[in-house]
Amino acid sequence: MSGKKKKKYTIRCAGLNISFFIFFLLSGNIMVDARNYFDGVIGGVWNDIDGKPIQVHGGQVQKIGDKWWWIGEDKEDGYRTQNGISMYSSDDLYNWKFESYALRAIRNRADMDTDPYFVNLYGHLTDLQKDEVYQAINTTTSVIERPKMIYNKKTGKYIIWFHADGPTEEAPESGYAAAAAGVAISDSPEGPFTFLKRSRLHQLPDEEYGNEWYEQPGNRGFARDMNLFIDEDEVAYIIYSSEENRTMFISRLNEEYTDLDVPQEPVGLAKNGVDFVRLYPGAQREAPALFKYDGRYYMITSGATGWEPNAARYWVAEDIFGEWKDMGDPCIRENGIPYAASLTFGTQSTNVIPYDAAAGKFIYMGDRWNSMDLSDSRYVWLPVYFTPTGEMELRSTEIWDLSFFDEINTIKFNPDQLAGIYFRNEDLPERMKAQVRNKDKWEEKEVPVSWDTDITRLPPASLTTVTGSFIVNGISQSVTVKVANINEDLLYFIDSGAAEGSDLFDSIQVTGLAPNLINRLPDQPFQEESGWGYTGTVGTNEEGADMDYKNPESRDAFTSGWFAWYNKTIDYKLRVKNEMYRLTMGFQEWWNTGRYMRIFFSYKDNTGNEVIKEFPSFYNRTESTQDYRFELADIHPDDSYITICVEKTGSADPIMSWLALSLTDEITSVNNVFSSGRKLHVFPNPVSQNQPFYVKVTGEKDYRNMKVFIYDLSGQLITQNLISDAVTEFRNLLPGGTYIVNLEDMYTKLIVK
Ligand code: GAL
Repeated sequence: MSGKKKKKYTIRCAGLNISFFIFFLLSGNIMVDARNYFDGVIGGVWNDIDGKPIQVHGGQVQKIGDKWWWIGEDKEDGYRTQNGISMYSSDDLYNWKFESYALRAIRNRADMDTDPYFVNLYGHLTDLQKDEVYQAINTTTSVIERPKMIYNKKTGKYIIWFHADGPTEEAPESGYAAAAAGVAISDSPEGPFTFLKRSRLHQLPDEEYGNEWYEQPGNRGFARDMNLFIDEDEVAYIIYSSEENRTMFISRLNEEYTDLDVPQEPVGLAKNGVDFVRLYPGAQREAPALFKYDGRYYMITSGATGWEPNAARYWVAEDIFGEWKDMGDPCIRENGIPYAASLTFGTQSTNVIPYDAAAGKFIYMGDRWNSMDLSDSRYVWLPVYFTPTGEMELRSTEIWDLSFFDEINTIKFNPDQLAGIYFRNEDLPERMKAQVRNKDKWEEKEVPVSWDTDITRLPPASLTTVTGSFIVNGISQSVTVKVANINEDLLYFIDSGAAEGSDLFDSIQVTGLAPNLINRLPDQPFQEESGWGYTGTVGTNEEGADMDYKNPESRDAFTSGWFAWYNKTIDYKLRVKNEMYRLTMGFQEWWNTGRYMRIFFSYKDNTGNEVIKEFPSFYNRTESTQDYRFELADIHPDDSYITICVEKTGSADPIMSWLALSLTDEITSVNNVFSSGRKLHVFPNPVSQNQPFYVKVTGEKDYRNMKVFIYDLSGQLITQNLISDAVTEFRNLLPGGTYIVNLEDMYTKLIVK
């Protein structure tokens, strides 16, 4: 900025305060307004330094030398570019200069023999070769999308790969029949780039394909939405949506970066997992953006809905050709934001910029396509957040600048140091090792952690996630660990439907914290000698069985369990005495539905009569623990068993994951439900006057027949309504203002406009 004077102006326009810097160049007659921020999810028009809207969609930004380069699709003329692939440059990522159409598209086949630009690039080719180039990059039928560039340090060349599509001989009408990758080369980023070739990419050998439609021969080797990535060892990869956009591939490029390292033909030469990797067949992901942070590979993708936004997902791997893990949608949902987080804030991923990868500074680049006018599609750049354990997050960030990174992603820690299950308050770690970033340098620190939990108050044997908090650089952070309350009162911990038991079951057996535990096997059919077990039959529905296994191999007590067949129950018989008991049972939903269930038990009293005691119906949505207390005083001396039964009280048949029976010295009359994830939702919020609004509860409790109350801010009850199964509708007759919606111990604000 030397030689320039900086002045700050505030201009009032159409009721908005727009504050920006105006630079007067010393020459005095050129005036440029410089930008010093990104507008995030707002996605306003982004002009280049000449004041023209930037045309570089589906693009990629990287630093080469001291400059940032932005390559992308020129959509000035709409869907099919008349210019080619555009290239911009910048010193600061905010202010961009149009450099060139780095790879020019060809208007007429004749231009290849007459226009000096094309003669220079392609003059040496045969007519047939020229035809092939023309077919791939002409302005009438070619589709030139998602160009990405890489610089090859060894050869000093710049390479562009792009989605090179268009009609084929077999499908002359189609815009997307070629489904291929195009590659071009140049001595400088602004071009001119010489188009080299268009081809499909890797596929599996015939025998490794299944019978899915997208695996059929015609769809193999497709390459559409794509990206490039250079690893620390300078090996480059191409990432592309293949098999009719159903499957993602990553293939290693050759040393020159101009072709696949191991050719696509003959099929079988390149090996899955060695030369390329085939990821998530059938998942239908596109718009891949791959980056590396803290030794791990991250890939964010979109779904495939054309120009319409959809929910992002990201995957993580330790090894680029190794196992990738689906981490879900990184977008953080917050209320009242203009661009839905569930639709990636109205964007589709195109790239993630490693602004300073070592320091954890990455920028998400999204396209907010405007299908009505593609040239007016916008660029949404967001800071990538990482949790201290490396989960990626995108937020509804509006105005921000690069100094934002001083405040975020400044702490990392290895979650392995908190692995395992904690059973006693005093075992919860008091300190933890963390990496803390100060400016751009990471330092290892020991940080004190405080745990807001009392394990002894948790329901017996229920594996629970608890949060610890600590403060680093003035920012409050949290960690989670798994805890379980295990003590000498525990008599049975049955890991239902588990073949070998779970980590929790094993821990209980070995820690000696439950010396009075009766069962030494995770589960078994009822047996007289040991005095416990399930009494139902196990098998298929056709066999008339009562129930069947779900995830028997799981090491997690909640994840393995039983499901009952149509109208059946799940029953356990346990030997007991005349004592006060606490019955705790765990449930996990495996089919993404909600279930109303009830637990009751029966026994023979000392007069020989059958006694049945039942607990209230409850609702399980994802995972819950039901916790009850009861007293036995009249159990038959020669037949001292209870049979515990789980039955449905709604339409879906019962399930269960584990059962714990403990002694207790306290009987409370209330049904003690320990529920997780309970939440009161009100929508739309804000609501307009005279519009209906809806209240819904999610969680693990049967909330039917409970009441929702609405108060004004002075605490005056305004209205109330019984909650129903799904959503409860309120006819909104409330005047404008703020209200409090209440159900049990849950409160939420409602704004009426
Ligand atoms: C999108 C894709 C874009 C473009 C568009 C055409 O799904 O990501 O690059 O091909 O479809 O409809």
